[in-house]
Formats: sequence, C-alpha cells, structure tokens
Amino acid sequence: MLFTRLLGFAAVASAAWSGNLNYRSPSHHHPGLGIAIHKVVKRSDISSPFDPAKLNFTHGVASGDPYPESIILWTRVAPTMDNDKSNVTVTGFVPLYNHDTDEYVALSKSPVCVDWAVYVDKELRRAVTHGTAYTSSDIDYTVKVEADGLSPYTTYHYQFAVCGSSNSSPVGRFKTTPRKDDKVNSGSIAVFSCANHPFGFFNAYGNVARKDSVDWVVHLGDYVYEYKEGDYGWGWAIGRAHQPNKEAYSLYDYRRRHAQYKSDLDLQHNHRQFAWIPVWDDHEVGDNQYRDGSSLLNNTEDSFIKDGGVSVDQRKMNAVRAYFEWMPIRQVDMDDNLRIWRSFSIGSLFDLIMLDTRQYDRSITDLYWNTDYVHAISNDAGRSLMGSRQENWFYNQLIKSNKRGAIWRIIGSQLVFSRLNASLALGPENPFNYDGWDGYVSNRNRTFNVLYENNIGNNIMLAGDIHSTFVSDLNWYGNKPYNPETGEGSIGVEFGGSAVTSPSPLGPNLTFAQGQFASEWVVGNNPTLQFSDIYYRGYYELHITHQEVNAKYFGMPSILTRNPYEVPFANFTVKNGENKLSRPLSGGTVFNGALKNKQTTQTNMTHNTEDNSWFISN
Ligand SMILES: *[C@@H]1O[C@H](CO)[C@@H](O)[C@H](O)[C@H]1NC(C)=O
Ligand SMILES: *[C@@H]1O[C@H](CO)[C@@H](O)[C@H](O)[C@H]1NC(C)=O
Ligand SMILES: *[C@@H]1O[C@H](CO)[C@@H](O)[C@H](O)[C@H]1NC(C)=O
Ligand SMILES: *[C@@H]1O[C@H](CO)[C@@H](O)[C@H](O)[C@H]1NC(C)=O
Ligand SMILES: *[C@@H]1O[C@H](CO)[C@@H](O)[C@H](O)[C@H]1NC(C)=O
Ligand SMILES: *[C@@H]1O[C@H](CO)[C@@H](O)[C@H](O)[C@H]1NC(C)=O
Ligand SMILES: *[C@@H]1O[C@H](CO)[C@@H](O)[C@H](O)[C@H]1NC(C)=O
Ligand SMILES: *[C@@H]1O[C@H](CO)[C@@H](O)[C@H](O)[C@H]1NC(C)=O
Repeated sequence: MLFTRLLGFAAVASAAWSGNLNYRSPSHHHPGLGIAIHKVVKRSDISSPFDPAKLNFTHGVASGDPYPESIILWTRVAPTMDNDKSNVTVTGFVPLYNHDTDEYVALSKSPVCVDWAVYVDKELRRAVTHGTAYTSSDIDYTVKVEADGLSPYTTYHYQFAVCGSSNSSPVGRFKTTPRKDDKVNSGSIAVFSCANHPFGFFNAYGNVARKDSVDWVVHLGDYVYEYKEGDYGWGWAIGRAHQPNKEAYSLYDYRRRHAQYKSDLDLQHNHRQFAWIPVWDDHEVGDNQYRDGSSLLNNTEDSFIKDGGVSVDQRKMNAVRAYFEWMPIRQVDMDDNLRIWRSFSIGSLFDLIMLDTRQYDRSITDLYWNTDYVHAISNDAGRSLMGSRQENWFYNQLIKSNKRGAIWRIIGSQLVFSRLNASLALGPENPFNYDGWDGYVSNRNRTFNVLYENNIGNNIMLAGDIHSTFVSDLNWYGNKPYNPETGEGSIGVEFGGSAVTSPSPLGPNLTFAQGQFASEWVVGNNPTLQFSDIYYRGYYELHITHQEVNAKYFGMPSILTRNPYEVPFANFTVKNGENKLSRPLSGGTVFNGALKNKQTTQTNMTHNTEDNSWFISN
C-alpha cells in the first residue's frame, strides 16, 4: 500500500516537473539546450518547499497560442522580485545568486509548487481542467503549462495558486479558437509592435484591455528592447530607465529586461484579458539582427571581448531562452529551438500565418557600415529573409489556406512588405530600408509569384517595426499593372502599424507639422501607398467578417503619462473578393496623416473630458 502510494507520488511529481514547459525550452530534444530535469529533481527537496507566504506572483498571468482545445498559461511565482543571475550555460552550470550578500551560493533545494485550474465561470466555481507544476531558479521561477481538454471558441478564466495555500495569482481570461472547419461569422484582433520602455507608458496595451474590444492579441515583435538606457529615450525622467542599465547580453540581462517590461500595469492588464499570439522582431535579441549577428555584434574577436565574452550564438541563445521563459508562446517544433513561425486557423474565416523574418535564417542585413553593399545585392535571387525551410512552409500555407476555402489569409510579418521609397529620410543614394523586405526583393517576388500564380486573393499583410502607419494596396509593383486611383491590379492589402511607444522614424520630438509633411511626401512618392501617419504612437484593430475586414487605427495623444486617451484617426475597409482598399479611403476622412490624392489639413486633437470625445482644435 505504502509502496503504491510512493509510486503514485513519484509519477505526479515527475509530471509536475515536465509539465512546466520551460524546463524543456528552448529544445526538448536537445538536452544541452534545455535544463536537465533529472538533475533539478535530484537536487530538489520537495519535502521542504518555500513558505507559501514568502512567495509572490510577481508579474501577473498571461495566456497565449490559443488552439480549439488548448492554451498556454503563464505566470511567475518567486521568493524575490529580482531575477536569477546564474547565467545558465549550455553546459548546465547553475549557481544560485544571493541578493543580500551579492555572492553565488549553493543551489536552492526548494522548488516552488503551483496548482493551476481553468474555469468556465469568472467566479471560479466550475473547473474544467487543472494541474500541478514545479518551478525553480533554473528557469527564473517562471511557469508555463499547456491546459487542454477545452471547447472551441469559448471564453475561460484561470488562476494559479501556491500548492496547499490560499496564495493565488490574479485571475486571467482567454478565448480558444474555433475548429478549423467551423463556420464563424466574425473574429477580431488587436495588433501591437515596438514597445520601448524608456520612451513611455504602455497606454496602448491598457486601452484595448479597458475597451475589451477584441478576441485575441497579435504582437509583431520588439516586445522588449536590448538597448542600454542612455542611448535615447527619457527613461530616467519618467521612471522607466532600462534595467539592468546596460545593453543585454547575458541570460540574466534578458530575464531582467523581460521582468521589467512585464511589471508595466497596462501590459499586465492586457495579458490578463487576452490570449496572445506573439512573434519576435530584432530587438528581442539585438538591433538589425539576422542569422549570424546584429548591427552591434560583428562576430569578431574584438567584438567578442567588448561584449563581455558573449559570442553571437550565445547571446542569441540567452535571448531566446529568456523569451521562451517569459512569453506565453508554444514551441511548435521541439527539434527546432529557433522556430516561432507557425499558423492558426480561425474556423473557415481566416488563417493567421505568423512569420519570423528576423532571427531564423535571414541572409546578411544592413548593419549601417555595409548599406551600399546590401543595396547592391538587394535584388540577388539567392537572398532570403526567412531561409528556405520557412519560405517553403510559408508558400505551402498560402496554397493550403486557399484550397481549404478559408476566406482571408492574414500574414503577420515583422517588417513592411510593400516597396517603400523613403529617400526623404534615407537620402537618394540608398532610398530603401535594406533591413526590410526592400533588401530581400527576390523573397518578396517569390511570395507575389505564389499569390498571383495560384490566384490566391483576400490577403492581408500585417507589419510592425517601422514605428509609424503605412497602409498600402498589395501589388507586385513593376511586374503587374496597378492603378493607384482605383487599386486595380492588387492582390490584397497591407496594414503596417505604428508602435506602442517607440519613437517615429523621424525622431522622438516630431511636431504635427513635421509628421504631416513626411506623411504627405511618402504617400505622394509611393504609388501603392494609400495612407500614412508618421506622427502617432498607437496600434490597430482588425475586425473580420465574411463580407469585409475593417482596420481601425488608434493614436496615443501622450505616452509620457499613464492615461486612457486615444484618437481613432483612420478606419479602412477591405471587401471580400476586392483585394484592395475600399474607396473612398477611410470614408474620405482621417483625423491625422495623409490620404492619397487628398489634402489633409494638419490636425491637433483636443480631448473633451465631459463626453470623452476628441475634436480638432486647429
Ligand atoms: C510579496 O508581495 C507583498 C505585497 O506586495 C509584499 O508585502 C511582500 O514583501 C512580497 N514578498 C516578497 C518575498 O517579495
Ligand atoms: C554572468 O554574466 C554577467 C554579464 O556577462 C557577468 O558579469 C557575471 O560574472 C556572470 N556570472 C557568472 C556566475 O558567470
Ligand atoms: C563592424 O565592422 C565594420 C567593418 O570593419 C566596422 O566599420 C564597424 O565599426 C564594426 N562595428 C562594430 C560594432 O564593431
Ligand atoms: C523582382 O520583381 C521586380 C519587378 O518585376 C523585378 O524588377 C526584379 O528584378 C525582380 N527580382 C528578382 C530577384 O526576381
Ligand atoms: C527631445 O526632447 C527632449 C525633452 O525636451 C530632449 O531632452 C531630447 O534631447 C530631445 N531629443 C531629440 C532627439 O531632439
Ligand atoms: C496641440 O495643441 C495643444 C493645445 O493647444 C498644444 O499644447 C500642443 O503643443 C499641440 N501639439 C502639437 C504637436 O502641435
Ligand atoms: C525615390 O523617390 C524620389 C522622389 O520621388 C525619386 O527622385 C527617386 O527616383 C525614387 N527612387 C527610386 C529608386 O524609385
Ligand atoms: C473610425 O471609427 C470609429 C468608430 O469605431 C469612429 O469613432 C471614428 O470617428 C472613425 N474615425 C474616422 C477618422 O472616421
């Protein structure tokens, strides 16, 4: 009897270790890249757990990667707000840092045990599934579990609690996706990118949570920035300076950075309310990242020494590990630790195809000192933003999505897809952003070729990275005819969108007049670009039905204080089968920015606190 009880206990305990997916990140099948669970288990003394009263759910809760029957749930429960400083290396060296004495000590033998449960009601009376998981300093006290056995297209609530205690987390909420062939009438997402902590408050995240206006959240990356404080921004002035106060290289640096960002109350609110579908851009690792390095890491002996003995690959692994620990993201291929490209089917309404145009397998990019060279090779057929494995997968996804009859294809690309002549800002010699799709023309051509050759319509490209708004008809410019007046000749639409806080491409102190001048210039000098707004920080929402996709753009009047205000500055419609922006664009009116062929007077919105509306004050 005793024997069976012990056996039963061992099985539960071992499931609780492996049930925390972060012990297996970033690669389950390559133990050298993950944590050796058997070593952690051997070291641990589960009979002397932490005093529950000494543990805190330090960063709220989050959910992500919704499927029809399952979801990823995340939290962090720790004896300290600070992060693990142990620089876990690929060889598995895991010392424990004592913050009081500032020294490395023997590993803590006490794991933290948490129970979690998913409920159908927000009063948490009727649980549909539950489980137990361990966490420890090895994974920075993060917890990531998969809850399954759920029903499609259903709203649930969830909570974590320290085992055997009433110390519990905030309550989170999420919605599962419909089954692949389910007929659903509508779905909506909020699209975010580029949140730079020292540049301001994450009001954009908070507003969507307060309005409760969408089903899911898509994040196109630059969720954290690796920069040192002092490079730019006003972090010190507004109490949002980067921690640690250095550029991120070590595992500790990236963990600390994620922890700091997730301490923002608006971001926590958003994570608590919605399941997220995130991808990284460059700054989750380093500026202008590509397969083999980034703008500030040359992969030379000099740079290796300057960067504190962290190699390009080690840095990327540190960043990737912290990302998987801290984000509610699934690892869809345990054999491929860098793979975050993946897709979601939202019934027969749309497929959401998320790309990694940054870290995975990208050919050399513009590193600032080689711009002429990258310009010269930008039309080389051998260049790829994604690498051949991901490219083939992407084209197959487009073809399969069309074949299965999904009405819309929504493609999450970090970078602006449409050709964008920005010689006003970049100068006449190198007028394109060669770090974007414009530096990888053949990859874009191959994408267009798949769409046009297979007659795949209803394509909606999403883009971030550019810190301003760019709305285009999707046309293979120079290869297929295009009428800028009517949109004839295009094969979809691109919605590029703004930034939670990262400054405009023309600098952080842009005036309305400067923003308007640049918006008008760029719309006037790019045939497929139909609208641009360079001024506002913000985000956009997509409301998707069988008949049409509506994109609503929101601008933040100020990010230097925490506030709930926003300006609904433009709204666009794409009708099923039309493959272009509906005319008149935005119903003929925008509150800021430049519409094609339309003189927009520069506007300054004033807020009426009585009815919470905005009016044009000049
Ligand atoms: C946990 O949070 C509570 C409330 O904020 C605080 O009083 C307590 O000191 C925290 N405990 C630890 C170990 O940080
Ligand atoms: C961890 O990394 C930081 C920064 O690279 C370094 O200063 C520190 O000495 C490292 N600690 C250990 C235990 O290796
Ligand atoms: C990288 O190498 C180039 C070419 O030698 C040099 O111009 C540039 O300053 C280097 N960058 C860094 C960050 O070391
Ligand atoms: C891509 O398409 C454009 C427009 O037709 C063309 O000018 C360019 O040469 C093509 N490049 C490659 C590498 O296919
Ligand atoms: C922007 O304005 C701030 C505050 O007035 C100032 O400190 C900063 O230097 C300015 N930045 C630029 C790039 O002009
Ligand atoms: C907008 O108007 C307000 C109130 O008149 C003024 O303080 C602010 O500077 C204006 N903003 C810009 C960017 O012109
Ligand atoms: C970019 O736009 C400028 C201004 O219209 C134009 O002079 C230049 O030829 C354009 N460059 C390219 C490569 O299209
Ligand atoms: C966009 O739509 C919203 C309603 O969702 C409306 O309040 C706003 O005025 C519209 N903006 C424009 C520029 O038409």
